[in-house]
Amino acid sequence: MYDSNPTLDGIKTIDESRQGSVFYREHQQHGKTPGLKHFYIESYGCQMNFSDSEIVASILGEVGFAPTRNMEESDLILINTCSIREKAEETVRKRLKTFEQVKSVNPGLKVGVLGCMAERLKKQWLEDEKLVDLVVGPDAYRDLPNLIGAAEEGNRMVNVLLSREETYADINPVRLETNGVTAFISIMRGCDNMCSFCVVPFTRGRERSRDPFSVVAEARDLFSRGYREVTLLGQNVDSYKWDNPETGEHTDFADLLEMTALVHPDLRVRFSTSHPKDMTDKVLHTMARYENICEYIHLPVQSGNSRILDLMNRTYDREWYMERIDSIRRILPEAAVSSDIITGFCSETEEEHQDTLSIMEYANFSMSYMFAYSERPGTLAARKYADDIPEDVKKRRLNEVIRLQTAMAHRNNQQDIGKTFRVLVERDSSRSSADHCGRNSQNKMCVFPKKDGINPGDYVMVRIHDATSATLLGEIV
Ligand code: 5AD
Ligand code: SF4
Repeated sequence: MYDSNPTLDGIKTIDESRQGSVFYREHQQHGKTPGLKHFYIESYGCQMNFSDSEIVASILGEVGFAPTRNMEESDLILINTCSIREKAEETVRKRLKTFEQVKSVNPGLKVGVLGCMAERLKKQWLEDEKLVDLVVGPDAYRDLPNLIGAAEEGNRMVNVLLSREETYADINPVRLETNGVTAFISIMRGCDNMCSFCVVPFTRGRERSRDPFSVVAEARDLFSRGYREVTLLGQNVDSYKWDNPETGEHTDFADLLEMTALVHPDLRVRFSTSHPKDMTDKVLHTMARYENICEYIHLPVQSGNSRILDLMNRTYDREWYMERIDSIRRILPEAAVSSDIITGFCSETEEEHQDTLSIMEYANFSMSYMFAYSERPGTLAARKYADDIPEDVKKRRLNEVIRLQTAMAHRNNQQDIGKTFRVLVERDSSRSSADHCGRNSQNKMCVFPKKDGINPGDYVMVRIHDATSATLLGEIV
């Protein structure tokens, strides 16, 4: 769904080439369906945002809107936005200008902004610049049919209310941009952590968990429709918690992971994101017990220095993080660990930056999403600390981090040469239709020549004979 290649300015960004070319396997919807209205949706930001777009597609489907990949023929254009860094906001502004042009030849067309930017930019875009017809925050998607109806009557509509309860648990997402093999399942929304750099608690509100039975039902339904991998999504999956109102029984993340793994041994289970302060050995032991829970943990470190971690309000220090890595290595010796890293956070010294490089080596990350610090209005850091590291220093440190990560990934992948992995076939390789690609348990992308009778959704054993920093190359054995 998103481009997993780390880029200089890329949070988990979507593959540029696929932006907007939303295709719908489940709807097989490429042209207009007579009698239906059509919506076109673009998503930016994290996996959670893509998952939300699938909930939106379902809500719109209920009121007679079918998806289209062609914005020119749509009645409604939606853009699901991200606020994590300033760059993301600039991208959306440019897209809104493009939509304005489409609207100039199709005056009936309505344009809406969804997601994380809704709260902060509603006034500017809706009232001041009149760029859009509706602005809808992440907890208000059920209200979309009403808001669209009012917009069609010429009103400018907004609903950015955050909720303490909304989990969309009962909504069966329409899978967008799907390969029919892998899917995301949101298990919780919001975040209570208050990392000082982060807008998420402000854009997505308080943390709440979805009931585990609806999660398992969704996984079961996906499996019955041919899907073979689900990724359980939350800003901080380790703080998942649900108390059964009838029995009082408590479900934590390890329990939910186990319940999902039990759906079927051929359904792979992944999850993202883990928080170092909350990731328990119970989760690691559950992963070790079930073959179909992938041995891959996304465990963002952000910085390797304890003073900076304290300023970031991460509530763990360098030693704590290293101890979590030791636990992973002890309980799951084959596991791959990936990370998010921020360079040039407020007051970070060269020495403190070196601590980030050394913890990366210690943890031996298989992959990282790497960012220069970008101050976000309203966050704790914006209010308390000066954004005092010059841009060129942030970028230079970022480049050092990227260079180290690329070298480590290359070295790690070289060590996989000669090994054989169980791989879930996902799709054609983007380079050649003669090759398939799919990931191993450690989430490494493997590319191998197609073989008769093997299709997406099948498991194959692949022996690796070559590797780059991003991909393992092999053949089916
Ligand atoms: N500046 C840079 N990176 C950020 N992230 C979150 N907020 C910021 C910010 N203000 C990064 C963190 C987080 C990831 C999703 O995005 O590394 O884990
Ligand atoms: Fe961006 Fe964070 Fe919102 Fe995801 S939750 S879309 S990363 S601001």
